Amino acid sequence: MNRVLITRKIPENGINMLSEYFDVDVNEEDRNLTYSEIIERVKGCFGIVSMVSDNIDKNIIDSAADLKIIANYGVGFNNIDITYASSKGIFVTNTPDVLTQSTAELGWSLIMSVSRRITEADSFVRNGEFNGFAPTLMLGKELYGKRLGVIGMGRIGSTIARMARYGFNMDIVYYNRSKNRYENLVDARKTSLNNLLESSDVIVVTCSLNDDSKYLIDYDEFKLMKKDAVFVNISRGAVVNTKALVQFAKENKMFRCGLDVYEDEPNIDKELLKLPSCVLLPHIGSATYSARGKMAKIVANNVISVYKGARPDNLLNEEVLWRAKK
Ligand code: DGY
Repeated sequence: MNRVLITRKIPENGINMLSEYFDVDVNEEDRNLTYSEIIERVKGCFGIVSMVSDNIDKNIIDSAADLKIIANYGVGFNNIDITYASSKGIFVTNTPDVLTQSTAELGWSLIMSVSRRITEADSFVRNGEFNGFAPTLMLGKELYGKRLGVIGMGRIGSTIARMARYGFNMDIVYYNRSKNRYENLVDARKTSLNNLLESSDVIVVTCSLNDDSKYLIDYDEFKLMKKDAVFVNISRGAVVNTKALVQFAKENKMFRCGLDVYEDEPNIDKELLKLPSCVLLPHIGSATYSARGKMAKIVANNVISVYKGARPDNLLNEEVLWRAKK
């Protein structure tokens, strides 16, 4: 029986679907597999269900001579050397759409937590510091009618924009390579990155990580922001220079931010951990029962499709089909 490696336990529905066709090797431990463990366990596998935290590079691909599909459990795929996978005729897929709403809602959870200082307020109460209503206690920022700047107006960015427009009557600007076809529905305007940074009250980063977006937000970009801006990153850590963020936050006491992603996960910059003005989450953008269950079904379906000789959904490297046709 062909073997499939699942590098971290996913919801049962996906494992059960795969078990009907494959000998499934699931990492049952509550930790990510190390790089060398993946190399060892992927040997002889037909497919791998990888996590967005797994670095699926040339070495890993080369260690699996029979590999036919890398089904990434997530929408981002910067963790995979797709060019190399394609050169080997290996299909690469991801799980878009089903996690859009959940991830957008997480983006909003961060925007609201940061604006109203929810985590600081929670610690304040637990530490026994609450001694009654006070007119100037934990003042935050009202969002209604303010300007939201969306960096990366794809599926998740557009959903956040829709919630901003219809929930908070916000004025929306966005920075994106191409014009968003739904911009009229939310009265959003495409603008330059500098204009977005200078004029927005809330800035949310949802773009994917690639050579162009690495350190897109560095110290010079932070310096353009309003001193009391709310800054949220739910895309990939390396879109933002963490050292620059920390420096800017230290210099501007009114600046607040919320992060779900980090440059070198799971390691987090020590200085960042010390900033009470920063809400830090453990990469849980798509972490709802609904999204994670649907993602499990998609990865399983994609591996099974390739096994049956069919085109998998959400194919990221169309060029493997051209190779196959030769
Ligand atoms: C993804 O799917 O790429 C997200 O980062 C998960 O939260």
